[in-house]
Amino acid sequence: MVNRRGFLTLSAATLLGRRIALPRGGNMRADHMKNESLQKKLAADPQRPRYHLMPPANWMNDPNGPIFWKGQYHMFYQYNPNGAFPESMHWGHAGSPDLVHWKHLPIALAPTPGGPDKDGCWSGCAVVDRGVPTLIYTGVFPQVQCLARSEDDMMTWRKFAGNPVVAAPPEGMETTGFRDPCVWREADEWFLAIGSGIKGQGGMVLLYRSKDLVQWDYLHLLCKGRKEELLPGNDPVSTGEMWECPDFFPLADKHALIVSTQGAVVFSLGSYVNRYFRPELQGKADLGDSYYAARSMTDEKGRRILWGWIREGRSDAAQRAAGWAGVMSLPRALTLAPGGMLAMAPPSEIEALRGKHQRFENLPVLPGSFSLLKGVRGDGLEIHAEFEPGTSEAVGLMVRSTPDGKEQTSITYNRTSGQLLVEREHSSLSLDVDRGSQGGPFTLAENETLKLRVFLDASVIEAFANDRACLTSRIYPSRPDSLGLGAIIRSGKARLKALDVWELRPISPDRLTT
Ligand code: FRU
Repeated sequence: MVNRRGFLTLSAATLLGRRIALPRGGNMRADHMKNESLQKKLAADPQRPRYHLMPPANWMNDPNGPIFWKGQYHMFYQYNPNGAFPESMHWGHAGSPDLVHWKHLPIALAPTPGGPDKDGCWSGCAVVDRGVPTLIYTGVFPQVQCLARSEDDMMTWRKFAGNPVVAAPPEGMETTGFRDPCVWREADEWFLAIGSGIKGQGGMVLLYRSKDLVQWDYLHLLCKGRKEELLPGNDPVSTGEMWECPDFFPLADKHALIVSTQGAVVFSLGSYVNRYFRPELQGKADLGDSYYAARSMTDEKGRRILWGWIREGRSDAAQRAAGWAGVMSLPRALTLAPGGMLAMAPPSEIEALRGKHQRFENLPVLPGSFSLLKGVRGDGLEIHAEFEPGTSEAVGLMVRSTPDGKEQTSITYNRTSGQLLVEREHSSLSLDVDRGSQGGPFTLAENETLKLRVFLDASVIEAFANDRACLTSRIYPSRPDSLGLGAIIRSGKARLKALDVWELRPISPDRLTT
């Protein structure tokens, strides 16, 4: 069950309702893929992204256990093979040589009837233990931590017979949740962070230690939220009573903790001393509310790459009718910017998708005018725009606009309010979709230009501003001619220095094979 904001509610009834028995080992082909008419319907759906990773059909949410192994990127994700709704969680699986083109692999984990994960294999992580790929994930209900291993290069997974490996939170702790393990190695020991929280007090991450991934000892809280962070709307972030999907890792000379607060993905940068994490700086990994449950990996180039779930912005009924719901974000390479802030940018591999290119320099844009660029259209584009914001109130891009402007979406930097926004009031004539602005604080230094990099992929928008703010959003234009692109300058003077537009190629048909 997904509540209005798209977060999974934890009702046992929801997940129990549609339990299915699947063959052991997860080496099954999803039946729906034999259904050619569904494939055709999905391929023809104008709202379905074409170059983002997503399952062949049905529901997906969190990225799980992204890992680089034997020259391939592996991505697992929360998946319901029975339809476009969040029940009976499995782990879907896909592999990629280049972070961009994906091949679907057999489902990795399915609930085992009568087992500790009988009601769902919830989120977790992947590690390699003495050469053996190992998944650590949450079984429900109750929430417990389980292990599964693969002896055949990740094609099938055998669950550990002694599951669960962590059966309950530490004694006497009344938690708001106990899930989404994140495991890493230090010297010859394993460490495990589990997402949790305490009602009225805040989110927290529990820290455990083990020699063998099986026998775990509770140490203490790796980190916990502060009471003043509990209030919604708190600046810069409110971190709530439950931290889902903790992700903890070194980044340059700092450590980073990323948690999903049932509202936003919040990152903290700080120090890790005596196995306590002390945050020094905090922010949102994404300024919208469409990006959630982010998880990271490292690769052979030593890069730290973050992935997130892009949730839908339309009704449950519309999702079920479409036959798919949920999209994996583009990868984001994380680095520390000078000044200690988190920098986020898509890795260069994404450029492999680029097709036809158009460039415009010093485009005349009149404040307040509505004009679309001639000959530049599309819903599968990468756009780079560099603005000198001057004295304007706001600058930005208009995307997915009909020629008459009846449907249109603006992606703007509002200089006066210091906000980066996706303005969706007129994104769709359909009544059944989210509208209203999404975004948050973003400011430019004096004389800094706005470097806006926007990815459009059918109903997905991912925007990067100056490689330090990200804003993910969903729009569902209803008209087939909602393809126009234009520049926006609102009152005052500004300059659009340069605009580059690439058509991006779809990653199918790979996307549709199992
Ligand atoms: C986050 C989350 C996790 C949980 C999973 C279940 O979106 O609620 O906490 O493990 O989804 O699908």
